[in-house]
Amino acid sequence: MNEAAKNKYNQIKNILEENLDKSIEVIYPESIYESMRYSLLAGGKRLRGVMAIETALIFGAKPEEILPAACAIEMLHCQSLIHDDLPCMDNDDFRRGKPSNHKVFGESTATLAGDALLSYAPKFIIDKTPKNINSDIILNLLREFFIAAGVDGIISGQIVDIDSEKKKISKETLNYIYEYKTAKLFKLAVRAGAIIAKADNEKLVAVTNFAQNYGHAFQIYDDILDVTSTLEILGKTPGKDIAAEKSTYVSMYGLEEAKQKVLFLCREAYDILNSNNINSEILKGIVSDISEGIKKCC
Ligand code: IPE
Ligand code: IPE
Ligand code: MG
Ligand code: MG
Ligand code: MG
Repeated sequence: MNEAAKNKYNQIKNILEENLDKSIEVIYPESIYESMRYSLLAGGKRLRGVMAIETALIFGAKPEEILPAACAIEMLHCQSLIHDDLPCMDNDDFRRGKPSNHKVFGESTATLAGDALLSYAPKFIIDKTPKNINSDIILNLLREFFIAAGVDGIISGQIVDIDSEKKKISKETLNYIYEYKTAKLFKLAVRAGAIIAKADNEKLVAVTNFAQNYGHAFQIYDDILDVTSTLEILGKTPGKDIAAEKSTYVSMYGLEEAKQKVLFLCREAYDILNSNNINSEILKGIVSDISEGIKKCC
């Protein structure tokens, strides 16, 4: 992304970081709060939170109106990562360049920290969203949150991902995994922004379609990086998908076709923004980060 977009992105990211830091304090029983904070504040790109805020801002909302939802979305994302890394899931010892939650706090606490973040997040939306936001809007937002978090979203994506290890799966099943484990959360991010900003249905559909293409591109790119990148760059263990015999776009179609697919999806995402007059340097920038990354990676 260009310098101007990067500056804007970092400005929003910094506000998000400050709010995340304030979102959970350590009280009794300390171990669970420490474990929650350890993963929530471990860094990361904060893509989903920034996307939620940026979408809300371009459609006319104020930062303080979307910040609680943006924090909640990062909490949900963080929960999905803590659980994804558990030995019974992908069994990864590293996340965001640090030991995974269960390596520091143990499996029981890590499991509970994930559960805790998942339930803390919607409560945070209810408690912290400014009172000028109508309760119908908050209800709608919470519904979207639960869709992304539950069996209509990440959980079903993760179960099909796990069940598809060491198996030949169809193109449709592969698509299902990407849609549910990854794209649904990106959809939640932009939809939350649009809902808080009271954007019309046309805009809501446009950002949803954008996030769909972006989400699929993002996950295929993640799968490509799993075979081409390093622990130092990724902050998580590479080569895990091959070791677990995961079904990915790379394992099913090869690296070259996977790269072409990512570039195609990035063009689609970009076109959706342009054809709907969504002039966001940040949304365009995160797409170009992936397409540029693909051109450089291998
Ligand atoms: C990792 O997401 C999980 C996937 C969907 C591949 P990110 O790459 O956005 O993780 P962080 O938040 O930057 O650590
Ligand atoms: C990410 O899939 C999906 C979720 C965490 C919900 P991966 O298993 O590929 O993510 P990483 O590579 O561990 O970040
Ligand atoms: Mg996984
Ligand atoms: Mg994983
Ligand atoms: Mg991965």
